[in-house]
Amino acid sequence: MCGIVAYTGSRSAVPILLDGLTALEYRGYDSAGLVTSTRMYKEVGNVAALRACLDADTSLRKKGKEKKEQDTAGIAHTRWATHGEPTKVNAHPHAGRDERVWLVHNGIIENYLELKQSLEAAGHSFRSDTDSEVLAHLIESHYTKKRAEKHTLAQAVTEALAQVRGTYGIAVFDRKQPSEIVVARMGSPLLIGVGAGEYVIASDASAVIRHTRDIVYLNDGEYAIVSPSNLAIYSLSHEKKTHTIDHIDWALEDVQKQGYEHFMLKEIMEGPEVLRASARGRIKASSGDVVLGGLAEHADALRGLSRLVIVACGTAYYAGCVGKRLIEELAGIPVEVEVASEFRHRRLLYDRNTAVLAVTQSGETADTLWSIREAKKQGLLTLGVVNTVGSTIARETDAGVYNHAGPEIGVASTKAFLSQIEVLAMIAVYLGRMRGLSEREGKALVAELLQMPDLVAEILTHKDAIKEVATHYADATNMLYIGRHMNAPVALEGALKLKEISYLHAEGYPAGEMKHGPIAMIEPSFPTLAIAPRDSVYDKMVSAIEEIRARKGPVIAVVTRGDTELAGRVDAIMEVPETHELLSPLLTVVPLQLFAYYVGVARGYNVDRPRNLAKSVTVE
Ligand code: F6R
Repeated sequence: MCGIVAYTGSRSAVPILLDGLTALEYRGYDSAGLVTSTRMYKEVGNVAALRACLDADTSLRKKGKEKKEQDTAGIAHTRWATHGEPTKVNAHPHAGRDERVWLVHNGIIENYLELKQSLEAAGHSFRSDTDSEVLAHLIESHYTKKRAEKHTLAQAVTEALAQVRGTYGIAVFDRKQPSEIVVARMGSPLLIGVGAGEYVIASDASAVIRHTRDIVYLNDGEYAIVSPSNLAIYSLSHEKKTHTIDHIDWALEDVQKQGYEHFMLKEIMEGPEVLRASARGRIKASSGDVVLGGLAEHADALRGLSRLVIVACGTAYYAGCVGKRLIEELAGIPVEVEVASEFRHRRLLYDRNTAVLAVTQSGETADTLWSIREAKKQGLLTLGVVNTVGSTIARETDAGVYNHAGPEIGVASTKAFLSQIEVLAMIAVYLGRMRGLSEREGKALVAELLQMPDLVAEILTHKDAIKEVATHYADATNMLYIGRHMNAPVALEGALKLKEISYLHAEGYPAGEMKHGPIAMIEPSFPTLAIAPRDSVYDKMVSAIEEIRARKGPVIAVVTRGDTELAGRVDAIMEVPETHELLSPLLTVVPLQLFAYYVGVARGYNVDRPRNLAKSVTVE
């Protein structure tokens, strides 16, 4: 989704802004732009196009023997179109009528039409179709009101925001006094990187990390006045806030490809290390226990839970579906899993012993965040399994567990899914040990969890065999994914991954549902990917596969290594090592991720930037 970068300090702003925008590219966008006190550029397409247009202009300036440009402040943006098509004129930054106040905006101004009409009545005319331009005009109109009432930029920003309904992360500056940047946030993340005599502001830490790891997170309902020598934060009602500086524990290399062709492949290959990082310091092999410091404070409430509701979107939702099975099996707590965009709009009929758990990589997904806020309103305990440290959901939930999977850059979530399942498995053991799971069972599970990085590494050594299978099926137009029990959600996740990055239509189904409809689609050109490790539902999976074969449907099966029974009956196999049945999704998903990756590559797509998708969905 849209990204913001802003800089104020003593260095030349343009390269910092451009590098920041490049770091935000993974989030998905369709146009980009930046403004400093002397320069303004917008371009449709990628940041490279914006950079090229700047370079061309710089060489013209040099020919004209203009002075070397030394702007030391500016604001920049990558836009993912919501209001108005992806055109140059709709790209940010946007200016007010006098082109004095400039703004970049993430989020949606819901009452922009109303505001636009009253501004038009006062003589404003608009260049773009965007809601953001309306906000720029509104701020400028407050800023340049009557001379006698001369407002500071911050006053003008807060007055304008008082008239706004919707969500925003904004960076605003006056081109005539550029070193002071005013930023504000309501429902759209913003953070301020603290350097020596400079600040780098961004919607995402990856744009800041090459300059500083010291971060101040702005909260909803706050604004900040940022100049090279000062950072002051206030509530929108002008109450001064004290801020703390957090330290990011990952490094620049984590957001670089490090020799891989795509981030997606790099992140799949990081699976073993991600599993180690998520489990580090949390597993007590000798007693079969899991230590989760983030939940300790609420241990009593968790012991007495009558129900857990998991809310999440997309891949994180499927991880939640695996989590449901784990927690119900190991802790005996009834678990519901609900897509967050549905949960937040319905009447919540839960007793006080219900907890709501958000599963989210980014910690910023709008629907998941609003679900947590609804749950809080009902007085329910809110928990998070969150990857991004300091994100809004991490900060707004009562308690939680960080994934520590490191930043995920590929738009299609892979390593985060693996880590989410591992953390949910650890939560299941943690809750289970409080509620009657025996030491013996606990020990068996945690021992297997500790093995898991090696088992995933073993699958990854066979990636070329998976590539071969994927390349063979890359021309299919439809695919069905089936699985059962622990692997029913994995089938849905496998199908999601394939459609996201290869635009090949794929559907996931619990295998038992085949006879209730989907089997009608089976024919020789319609392959099925069946997840059939040796487990308690193996025989049922074999029957489902036979029914497909009887209708001449090609079958690719994910099987336990050494399974000769199925290997002889299907068209292709992808093998995984043996493990505890409840933990098998940690292994079976890996070949599906690689399969999707190689199909996407074989079809010639940029798998890191799937069309129409954004990494972090911060609007509803
Ligand atoms: C799919 C994918 C999305 C996200 C979903 C939730 O590959 O990445 O489906 O899982 O948008 O995002 P988070 O986990 O950030 O809340």
